[in-house]
Parts: sequence; C-alpha cells; structure tokens
Amino acid sequence: MDMTFEYAPALESRAIVSIKPKYGHFINGSFVAGKKHFPTINPSNEEVLSHISLGSAADVDKAVLAAQKAYAKTWSKLSGKERGKYLYRIARILQERAREFAVLETLDNGKPIRETRDIDIPLVAAHFFYHAGWADKLDYAGLGHSPQPYGVAGQIIPWNFPLLMLAWKVAPALATGNTVVLKPAETTSLTALLFAEVCQQAELPDGVVNIVTGDGSTGASLVNHSGIQKIAFTGSTEVGKKIARAIATTDKKATLELGGKGANIVFDDAPVDETVEGIVNGIFFNQGHVCCAGSRLILQESIAEEIIEKLKVRMSKIRVGDPLDKNTDLGAINSREQLNKIQELAGVGDSEGAERWSPQCKLSDKGYWFAPTIFTGVTQAHRIAQEEIFGPVLSVLTFRTPQEAIDKANNTPFGLSAGVWSEKGSRVLWATQQLKAGVIWANTFNKFDPTSPFGGYKESGWGREGGKHGLAAYLKTGKESGGK
Ligand code: NAI
Ligand code: MG
Repeated sequence: MDMTFEYAPALESRAIVSIKPKYGHFINGSFVAGKKHFPTINPSNEEVLSHISLGSAADVDKAVLAAQKAYAKTWSKLSGKERGKYLYRIARILQERAREFAVLETLDNGKPIRETRDIDIPLVAAHFFYHAGWADKLDYAGLGHSPQPYGVAGQIIPWNFPLLMLAWKVAPALATGNTVVLKPAETTSLTALLFAEVCQQAELPDGVVNIVTGDGSTGASLVNHSGIQKIAFTGSTEVGKKIARAIATTDKKATLELGGKGANIVFDDAPVDETVEGIVNGIFFNQGHVCCAGSRLILQESIAEEIIEKLKVRMSKIRVGDPLDKNTDLGAINSREQLNKIQELAGVGDSEGAERWSPQCKLSDKGYWFAPTIFTGVTQAHRIAQEEIFGPVLSVLTFRTPQEAIDKANNTPFGLSAGVWSEKGSRVLWATQQLKAGVIWANTFNKFDPTSPFGGYKESGWGREGGKHGLAAYLKTGKESGGK
C-alpha cells in the first residue's frame, strides 16, 4: 500500500534576521560605504533582500593595506594561545547566533532551512572550534619547529555554501597567524557581512578580517594585488585556471578547490535501501550545488534495474518547495544563471539520447526551480557524464566488472570525490585504492568534518583544506628542532 502524507507548512520565522537595505565593505574593523551597488535576491521568490557594494580595485587596496597593518602590528605578535581565544570566542558567538545565520543563509541562497540549521551552521562553528584548538599547537602540525604564517591571505569563495566556505578559509588562516581579505560570491554576501558583525562582537583586532563584496572583477583585483602572499579559492575550474595563470609569475601561494564529477559506484552486494538513501544524499543534497556531489551513479548491471526503480520511488518523496519550510528537502536553484546552465545541460542530455526522468512536482512560477532529475542510458562520451552540472541532476551509467567501474569512475578531467557501496570490506578497500579522487566515502556520501582534509586531483584543484594538511597551506615550514 502506498501512503502519501500531506504536510502542513512548517515555516521557520524570518523575524530573527534584520537585513539592512544596503551594505558596504568591512575594512579595518568598520563598515565603509561602497560606491556602486547591486541587488541580492531570495532565489525562491525573486524578492530583493538588500543591495551589496561592488568592490573596486581601490576598495581591495584599502582592505589589503588594513590586513597588512594588522598582520605587522597585532596579529603576528600574538601568541598562538591568544589567537586561539579569539577563534573560540567567534565559534561560541556563531553557535549563539546559529538560528539567525541559518535563516539568513536560507533566504539569500535558497537552500532548505533543514540543511542550514543542521549542517551548514553547525559545521561552520565546528571549523572555528577545531582551528582554535590548533592555534597554540602548530609545532605539532608536522611542519617543523615554529612554522610561520605567510602574511595576508586573499580568499575568494562561491555561493553554494557561503558561510561554510568562509569558515573553511578564515578559520585556518587566523589560527596560523595570517590576516585575511575575503570576497564572498556576488549572489550570497549576506552571511559574510553578518560574520563581520561577529568579528566586531568578538573584539577581533581591527583589520585581521576584512570583507570586500563584489563580482569577478573584485576577485581579480584581489588575486592581482601585490600585497597578498597567499590565495585560497573555491569555485569553477574555469576561474581557477585564470587564477593559476595570473599568479604563475609571482611567488604567491595558492590553494584551489574546483569542480568535480563524483562517481558513486554501487556493487551488486550493496545494501539496497541504504544505498538508495546515499544516492539521494549524494546528488540532491543542497540542490546538487556541491563540488563533491555524487553526480555520476555507476551501477553494477545486475542490480541496476532494481536500484533505479527504488530510486524513482524515493525521489517521488522528495519535497521541493519553500526553503524556509522545515519539511522541505530540495530548495531553490541559487540564480537565474545557474538555472539556465542546468536547463541547458539537461537539454544536451536529451539530445544526446539519454533518458530523462523526474517525479511529478509542482514548481513555483516565481523563483528558480529545477525538479530532481535522473538520466539513464548515459555513456561516457555524453557531456552529462563529463561536465559538472551543479544541480539536482544525476547521470546513471552501468558496469559489468569491477575494473570497468573503476575505469569509468576515473574517466573525467576531475578527481574530487567518489563513493563506493558494497558490504564487502576487501572490495571497498580495493576500489578506493584505484580511484583517483581526493575524498572517497564508503557506504555513505557527502559527510564533512573539519578534521578531515578535503581537495582534489587533476582539474579539481590544488592543495587540501581542513585537517592537519589544511594547515600546511597557510604556513611556511619551520626549522627542525634539536640543532639539526
Ligand atoms: P565562479 O568560479 O565564477 O565564482 C566563484 C567565485 O569566484 C565568486 O566569488 C566570483 O565572484 C569569483 N570570481 C569570478 N571570476 C573571477 C576572477 N577572474 N578572478 C577572481 N575571482 C573571480 O563560479 P560561478 O560563475 O558562480 O559558477 C559557474 C560554475 O562553476 C557553476 O555552474 C559550477 O559548475 C561551478 N562552481 C563550482 C563550485 C565548486 O565548489 N566547485 C562553486 C561554484 C561554482
Ligand atoms: Mg562566474
């Protein structure tokens, strides 16, 4: 018997957030007015939430100067223990204001409140707590005695996990003694600007964190500024390549977290129901706006039909709708541009001969929406098997032998994430050793933890973020101790 429950809306109140009509930049501990502005909208209904400043090269210059001064005069002079205290304070304030951040992130990004509340914001706090703990223990990071910071880090982040990507960047930079100029993505600046208030509340010394909002031109000014020593970027492979070119003749250090086309491999002995949950979490979490999404499902042929059938049943239960509704599973696509890109690539899937399927679901006329979608009959030559769609669209391929699964999984320009589903430990270990991916999950997917390094092979990027490995990206190796 199939039972379908109707759910009454359970809207989270937005009364907790107060959004100003207009924002400036956060430079040297204060908000300073910008000259030009652009709107930031709620992608679920196209409501204009506020106006954000478009940072110029002069704004970036002011922010870098403030960061340089803060580095030389205060931050590099503090002990690790003192830096750690600030990070703990920021982490605690983030926890205290978690609901405010969750609602604001949901309004500006379009992702469901269930995810901002239970995943994004708790992980943000966890990143600050974790790095607070490292601040006075850097001698034990495996980087020699007294490893030293670079100076000023320029950090550029995307719109898919706005505050979480800020935390991935800011927490290790501050813990290791660097100061920061951060540029949020143009469609999702509001939580970064609220974070600036948290820095004030924590009495972080002026200029240690600076936030300049704007678009790609603002980001490029930051990359090209001679006053920064290190760049941390998360975003498209295309922009990552531009940054790599721009710094090729400088001695700037860089970490680049770029795109992916994660393979989720299911062997014939996988536990079916758990696997179906994992597939759904792998591609429909955060509307599929996830660099490490399991966007290529690679099924053993003998079980493919059963898995696809169960997956369709499960997909029919995904609730698409108002991101502020606590029952919502799949929220809005972040922008008109991103929706266009998803629609275009899905259209390519149709014209290349793959078979598209989506459950019946009512999508609002206002805002940007895309139903959860799978394509079956996908081959390796299809563009939807090779290119990052960055939306709720799953491409399904099949295999006969384990080696074929590995070959297909590794056959993209990317190498960020992968998943393996099997009840047999030896098979999981064998497969994970063959996969060229920086992060591999076994019998789960999209699990994140600040202690675990994250990053890719090939066109998925350079370097690692998180864990002990992530610290190395912000430190010059120190001298060996013991008179060597
Ligand atoms: P993007 O790479 O253009 O934007 C990411 C950040 O880089 C933003 O803050 C942007 O303002 C900045 N930026 C843009 N051009 C720059 C430049 N020349 N120099 C310095 N900074 C620059 O990504 P976009 O346009 O938002 O999305 C396009 C596609 O990229 C998506 O459809 C998706 O496939 C992929 N993407 C992947 C992400 C990931 O986490 N792997 C995140 C965001 C996008
Ligand atoms: Mg762009």
